[in-house]
Amino acid sequence: MENVEKGWDEFWAELFRVKHRQTIPGIQQYDSLIVDFCIETLKLEKGDEILDIACGAGDHAIEFAQRGFEVSGFDLSQTLISVADEKAIEAGVNVNLFRGDMREINFVKRFTGAVILSHSFGFFDHEENLRVLEGSFNALVDGGRLILDLMNPYNLPRFQKTWSKVDEGYLLSEPHALDAPSGVLKGRPAIYIDSEKSRIILMNQDAMSNNDIRMYTALEIRTMLEAIGFSRIEYYGQNKLPKMPYSSTSERMVVIAEK
Ligand SMILES: C[S@@+](CC[C@H](N)C(=O)[O-])C[C@H]1O[C@@H](n2cnc3c(N)ncnc32)[C@H](O)[C@@H]1O
Repeated sequence: MENVEKGWDEFWAELFRVKHRQTIPGIQQYDSLIVDFCIETLKLEKGDEILDIACGAGDHAIEFAQRGFEVSGFDLSQTLISVADEKAIEAGVNVNLFRGDMREINFVKRFTGAVILSHSFGFFDHEENLRVLEGSFNALVDGGRLILDLMNPYNLPRFQKTWSKVDEGYLLSEPHALDAPSGVLKGRPAIYIDSEKSRIILMNQDAMSNNDIRMYTALEIRTMLEAIGFSRIEYYGQNKLPKMPYSSTSERMVVIAEK
């Protein structure tokens, strides 16, 4: 079999975020529950403007639009934005989707709510992670709220080796591993066995490193948010209703902060 190397956008974006995600049973209902939670905790009202930061293939952004909100969503991956555009057309909703980098958010006082879902925070060094929060703060109107839906650093998922059928091939993913001294959850190595074209697709260095996530504790996140100007910081233990208190054993660490 021939070996081919691919970068983040082709390997994870297309194979994992789009194709593999579609095969997860109940994923649409799960997205819908997350949107219910966001609407309640962000205290949104129909017609409010929402920013979906790192929106991936647009699953939540589209659902917000279907519920009557004005939505903008961006992602670094053009592959995912193109898929999101197609899905929005299919769903018959208008969503302002574009390619963008979360370290360079330049909206000013526009959105009532901003969301960073599915642990899409912590991809960079500390200064750049702070810049993401600063950009989110600037994008919100006064009184606007931000949601950070994060993994619970005290109760990381029991990552397992997974072996999934995707298209005519198989995606084999190794578990993530936490590098304890740096607090960085290292991106998981994976290979795709493309049986149809008789080749093995490997991740290149970009695909590997682009998946690393710095884990922050609740106190660290509070310090960062307060330094930027956020207040009324709340924590919840799951990203769906009912609102559950955050604890060391919670499924997630969901942070809400107000401008
Ligand atoms: C775990 S996925 C979550 C996607 C989506 N929010 C969801 O819940 O399905 C993380 C996303 O972050 C995006 N991403 C990575 N670096 C980014 C950056 N610098 N700016 C914007 N998006 C980025 C990836 O392309 C990917 O779609």
